[in-house]
This record gives sequence, structure tokens and C-alpha cells, in this order.
Amino acid sequence: MAVVQATTTEPDGEGAGPRHVAVIMDGNGRWAQLRGRPRLYGHHAGVRRVREIVEACPALGVKYLTVFAFSTENWKRTQAEVAGLMMLFRRYITREAQDLLKNGVRVRFIGDRIRLEPRLVELMDDLELLTQGNDRVHLTVALNYGGRDEVTRAARRLAYEVEQGRLSHRDVDAETLARFLDTHVLPDPDLVIRTSGEARISNFLLWQSAYAEYEFVDTLWPDFTRAEFARIVHGFAHRNRRFGAVSA
Ligand code: FPP
Repeated sequence: MAVVQATTTEPDGEGAGPRHVAVIMDGNGRWAQLRGRPRLYGHHAGVRRVREIVEACPALGVKYLTVFAFSTENWKRTQAEVAGLMMLFRRYITREAQDLLKNGVRVRFIGDRIRLEPRLVELMDDLELLTQGNDRVHLTVALNYGGRDEVTRAARRLAYEVEQGRLSHRDVDAETLARFLDTHVLPDPDLVIRTSGEARISNFLLWQSAYAEYEFVDTLWPDFTRAEFARIVHGFAHRNRRFGAVSA
């Protein structure tokens, strides 16, 4: 397993923009309800924002964007909403594939694929393969993703390697465990944004966000514009990240 870059835990002081931004896209349901429309209408509007934010990344110096599309807990929603979301993901991949390819976006998916319908998994695999040569923006979509689930799956695979005698328990440190995470090829997020006024991390990138900065905004995801994204990204440069060290 190749690790492109391990954790970013060096103090870099003020000035640097976020290289990796992760987003909890919350508020689609409320946005639709406010308009007297079904929740899925909000998810459709949410997809348009995903497109807009991905397009905004290169000019802002954001190389990695990770979006939380479906959590391991989202299966608890009504069957109609879950089915609607799955249809939306299939449609997004099918419709956007060529544009993503053309625009230099490399797409990856994280999360447990085992519970996803085979037709969707096939589309996900194909899109990853299609865009694997791109390097302008790295878009990671978290689908059936949960931070605890990801760490649990990594620990299980690590335990198996030890059981098979390919690793010693003495080799198990944070870096080794990180190699078994779904995100093993990605740098840690510098900034995590959550929309819709909720100040929770909801099981998103638990391990990877250890030193991330957080930004909680009231805007519902379908109203989250490129301008607001730019404002937050620019604001990040003024934060003083110390990673547990003392300011210079
Ligand atoms: C949270 O809003 C949103 C979701 C669970 C789904 C996110 C999906 C999208 C934005 C569209 C698809 C994305 C891609 C990458 C194709 P909510 O339903 O929890 O809203 P609420 O809190 O107002 O109920």
C-alpha cells in the first residue's frame, strides 16, 4: 500500500491555505421542507452544490476535497429516501463522469462497499479507474462511511496480518494503522466544514481530523455557494495551527 503523504502535523504557522478540505454537507432535508418539497428535492439541489464546490477548488489552492455523502447511520432513514439517494449517486456518477475526467478531477470513494448495491459499486469502481490519471483536484466521496467503522475495519485487517505472521504486534503504531484506513493515500484534512448550524462531527474522518480546524456555518448545504466556500478557505490562512506545539 503506497502512502502518498502521511499525517500533516508540522506547525506551518499563518498564511498557508488548506490543502485538504472535508465537508459535512448537512441541511438538504430542511432546505426542501422549508419549500414544502420532499427531502429528495433537497438532495438534488445538494448535488448541484457539490459540482460548484469541486469546480471552485483549483483557484483556491484546494487540492483535496472530501465530501460526506452517506454515513453508516444513514441507513436508518426511510427506505424511500435511501433508495432515492442511491439513485442520485448512480446518476451523479453516470452524468458527471466525462466532465470530471475532462476537468482533471480524480475521484475516489471511501467507506464500506459491502452493503452498497453491486450496480452502484461497479459505477464507483469504473469512475475511480477512469479518473485515476487526473491530478488537478482529488475528490473523495464518503459513501456508507463511518469513522469508527473505518478504524474497526482497519484494525481487523491489521490483526489478520499479525495472525498470518506478516506483521509483528511490535510494528503496530499510528503510521501502520493509518496504512490500513480507507484514506491511506490521502493527506489528513486541514479544514473540516459543516453546514446547517449543527456543531457535531458525526463520525466523519475521526482519525484523520485529529489536528483539523473546524468551521461550522448556519447555511443549509443547497445554499452553500462558491463565495462562502472561498471566504472560509481564505479565513483559514489566518488561523494559527500549532499541532500541540508552542507558537513561534
Ligand atoms: C445531509 O442532509 C445530506 C445527506 C445525508 C446526503 C448528502 C448528499 C448530497 C449532498 C448529494 C449527493 C452527493 C454527491 C457526492 C453526489 P440531511 O438530509 O441530513 O438534511 P437535514 O439535516 O436537513 O435533514
